[in-house]
Amino acid sequence: MVVDREQAIGRIDRRLFGSFVEHLGRCVYGGIYAPGSPLSDEHGFRQDVATLIRDLGVTVVRYPGGNFVSGYRWVDGVGPRDARPSRLNLAWHQTDPNSFGLHEFVDWSRKLGVEPMLAVNLGTSGIAEALDLLEYSNHPGGTTLSDRRLANGAARPFGVRMWCLGNEPDGPWQLGHKTALEYGRLAAETARGMRQFDEKLELVVAGSTAPWLPSSVDWDRIVLEETVEFADYVAVHIYVEEVDRDIQTFLASGVELDREIERAIAAADAAAKKRGVDRKLAVSVDEWGVWRDRDPNPPTFEGWPLERRIGESVYTAGDAVVTGALIVSLLNHADRVTCACQSLLVNAGAPIRAEADGVWRQSIYHPFQLAARHASGTALRATIAAPEIDTSKYGRVAEIDVAATLDEEQGQLVLFLVNRNASEAAVTSVRLGSWPDARLAEALVIGGGDPWETSTREHPEGVVPRKLDEAVLDGDSLEVALPPASWSVVRLATASKGGPP
Ligand code: AHR
Repeated sequence: MVVDREQAIGRIDRRLFGSFVEHLGRCVYGGIYAPGSPLSDEHGFRQDVATLIRDLGVTVVRYPGGNFVSGYRWVDGVGPRDARPSRLNLAWHQTDPNSFGLHEFVDWSRKLGVEPMLAVNLGTSGIAEALDLLEYSNHPGGTTLSDRRLANGAARPFGVRMWCLGNEPDGPWQLGHKTALEYGRLAAETARGMRQFDEKLELVVAGSTAPWLPSSVDWDRIVLEETVEFADYVAVHIYVEEVDRDIQTFLASGVELDREIERAIAAADAAAKKRGVDRKLAVSVDEWGVWRDRDPNPPTFEGWPLERRIGESVYTAGDAVVTGALIVSLLNHADRVTCACQSLLVNAGAPIRAEADGVWRQSIYHPFQLAARHASGTALRATIAAPEIDTSKYGRVAEIDVAATLDEEQGQLVLFLVNRNASEAAVTSVRLGSWPDARLAEALVIGGGDPWETSTREHPEGVVPRKLDEAVLDGDSLEVALPPASWSVVRLATASKGGPP
């Protein structure tokens, strides 16, 4: 492997370390919000959950859905709480009392120091509701809608910059499911209206949700030809899972994310060319994650509870390695992927689990935390020659994948390395010609043992990063032995603007 300062991919946007909060399962109620709990503050925000979120390093949070947003009336979630209507959440077969709404979300975001990102309902609602929500949220005051926000206790505008134009409208499961042309037109007109309010908003148009949907053949082309002049991002959603204990294929899931990102970029660039506009849309991977133990025949949801246990799987070491591998893919597309939201943040398919009396970290918490903490500055393209392995879904793929990041302010070069070989260690030699004075600061590894090991509430240390002893730096040559099915972080101190390493 060769890592070279001259091979820059792009600046790493801090929004790459985003997450997602939806009114789904126990993510909001029973997750981040539990009024009356001794573990919550006076606003009902769970403090133990908040501590783990801060520690995770999340930068931006997308809200309120997901599928939920396609039936959501934002006005239900503002104003005096005891006057808010209780509604059916059709997406997840739950009842939503609307006690956590827009103000609560923005207050919670501010307390946690994360940027709020909103999705508008383009399923059962449309342009008018989206424009009302925007004016209510971001206009300083002096109009009926903005004064209503002030009357509801928020003198300061919410200042939301990033807005998703609907959610997965190509999915037949979506309320207000649409054809590509129906959605493309609606998204374009909504975006045009939102820009009349504020030209600088950052707007995300929904790309094809999944390659297995029949509409995926020409969804991106049709939608992007309608919207490329008005949108800033095209959204990619991806969930990967281990099927039939085929861990070898599962470990190579980064290939799937690489393909999805590159497909979206190609479609956006082709649409810009066709429309004759000089625009390069960015990619927002605003739902990404690992499914575990998904029931192939889910039971029909019974009843309409406030809290429902959905996706509360126990994640494994293999899931943590794949989470890390997906982050490697995001970093390797840092020139175009400038926002990404791990899905979801708490309880449902999440790095953080909460019960009424406490919280704990799942295995997938750790790679996210390490990357959010250490991947900064510029992503560099590493040149790599590695043996290939066979996978049942992606064919032959390189055994190793890597992302390299260089933060010249901090004087830090970091390598994020995945050994996708399920059964054999990979001895890797890295040439660091650009940094002859580099010093090995830390080497950590996740995985490398039983890929089905877990972290649980009773045994929280089951899957945690541990020291990687097999990393040796000799001059400009770094030798690392990566255990099978593992994800590693190797940090090197380099000369910074402030001085030598
Ligand atoms: O798991 C979350 C759901 O997955 C979201 O609501 C939807 O956008 C996606 O299909």
